[in-house]
Amino acid sequence: MSVTMQDHWYPVALASGLRRSARDTLLLGRAIRVALDDGGAPVVTAEGRALPVQVKFGHVWTTLGVPAGDVFDIPEADQPGRRLVEVGSVKVRCSPLRAVENFLDIAHFPFVHTDVLGSEPHTEVERYEVEIRDDVDEVWATKVKFFQPQAARSAQGGITTEYMYRVPGPTCSVLYKTCPPRPGEWDVITLFVQPLTETTCEVWPWMALFDDDSTMTEMIHFQQLIFLQDRSILENQLPALLPLDPGREIPTRADMLSIAYRRWLKRHGYTFGAQLVAA
Ligand SMILES: [Fe+2]
Repeated sequence: MSVTMQDHWYPVALASGLRRSARDTLLLGRAIRVALDDGGAPVVTAEGRALPVQVKFGHVWTTLGVPAGDVFDIPEADQPGRRLVEVGSVKVRCSPLRAVENFLDIAHFPFVHTDVLGSEPHTEVERYEVEIRDDVDEVWATKVKFFQPQAARSAQGGITTEYMYRVPGPTCSVLYKTCPPRPGEWDVITLFVQPLTETTCEVWPWMALFDDDSTMTEMIHFQQLIFLQDRSILENQLPALLPLDPGREIPTRADMLSIAYRRWLKRHGYTFGAQLVAA
């Protein structure tokens, strides 16, 4: 039986944010209600159907279909000493697939996050490796290197940062990044995207960082600043839906990860938020 987008897990609330009230929201165009009671965090559709629920990475996850397994794992997140940062959500008027694709766009740092995650003239993307790992059904990019003036809230001065990108689900991405205070370890920065409609989404960034200096508020504000820079780009992208057929565009090296992501989406028929025929 093939797995559709309906069968994947999606974040729909912060587990810690539910004590105040129930949350009415959308998932893949369907109305759902997330509540919290003594038994956990039930999620029901507008018709009253109870949906599966898991609480992981500080978020409540649910699915409209029949998931193939649990919410994906991030083993690094369980390492002792990490700070787990719940950033909250940002609503964005863009396709959920566009939000992930932008997160995977290796070349955008110097232009969108100028003087923070990148700077001119350091705009060149060095050779990196991309693969679709069939055994785990994930897209991965490794050996990504970039010069960054301030790679993290905790970084002092510019460094060459190494990255790995991972796509464990159609609207989720995990970024592993050189950790300035802990050589040999990776900071984990995620983008969990809740698809509301084909052209709107709610983005729930979450991080598991080694950072003994910053306050929680400072780490949240740093990530919010970064994401608000992305949001203004995302809300102006055309076409609004993510084209899965790149047409006659000649891919640059920086695009290889985006192309692998689109190819993987197309192979699985993960088309909610996608444009199938090249315009
Ligand atoms: Fe960005």
